[in-house]
Amino acid sequence: MRRPIFAANWKMHKNRREAAAYVRELLPRVADSDGVEIVLAPPFTALEAVAAALAGSAVALAAQNVHPAASGAFTGEIAPGMLADLGCRFAIVGHSERRALFGETDAFVSSKVAALLEAGLRPIVCIGETLEQRDAGRTFEVLETQITGSLADLPSDRAGELVLAYEPVWAIGTGRSATPGMAQEAHAYIRGRLTADFGEAGAGIQIQYGGSVKPENAAALMAQPDIDGALVGGAGLEAESFSKIIHFEAQEGSS
Ligand code: 13P
Repeated sequence: MRRPIFAANWKMHKNRREAAAYVRELLPRVADSDGVEIVLAPPFTALEAVAAALAGSAVALAAQNVHPAASGAFTGEIAPGMLADLGCRFAIVGHSERRALFGETDAFVSSKVAALLEAGLRPIVCIGETLEQRDAGRTFEVLETQITGSLADLPSDRAGELVLAYEPVWAIGTGRSATPGMAQEAHAYIRGRLTADFGEAGAGIQIQYGGSVKPENAAALMAQPDIDGALVGGAGLEAESFSKIIHFEAQEGSS
């Protein structure tokens, strides 16, 4: 049975004070959420403040990126062991913003996956097609290429530690979420690929949906059989809306 996993990716938002205030507001709201995994991914600069505020809670800490090397002359980069030292249990890799804006390739993402596992962190690997690729009928082909390339260095006996996030690029930050049917179709495809590649461990990998998830659409998305939680951007910046998503509660008065 796959446990739902909800992660808030704060992207480049919140200083230390704002981050700690968010955690203080979130923790009482999710105290009853035993059956799900909850993850916060603040910017690097707020990791330590969030770790301190989360102390003793079951909510896990994630970084938004990592460099695959253990150490070295990589100005501006952060190694997996440094994240582990701060208390991170996860790191997001291959986010479409990093692929599109910073030129990250599947091969680079794959090296990060292996390095994270080596350091004892769970990778949240993001994949997803652009609108142009979807309109050209290439969605599955793009997902196939990203899965194969981004997981090329994954030791098969560690597949069970992975989280996959399906984030259609056209749905990120646009307010235009995939319909539950569209998302399920992509998740079923991804599930099939993971199962073919990794057997039972592949079938057990949690697959999050990401892209304009909000309290109003969370329940319908989470009702799909192959959607195992959400990677949330904008709606994860407020403790109230993130906790509503975790509880699948529709906001009052919304359609
Ligand atoms: P939004 O929820 O703001 O669309 O962002 C999704 C995302 O990119 C999470 O990683």
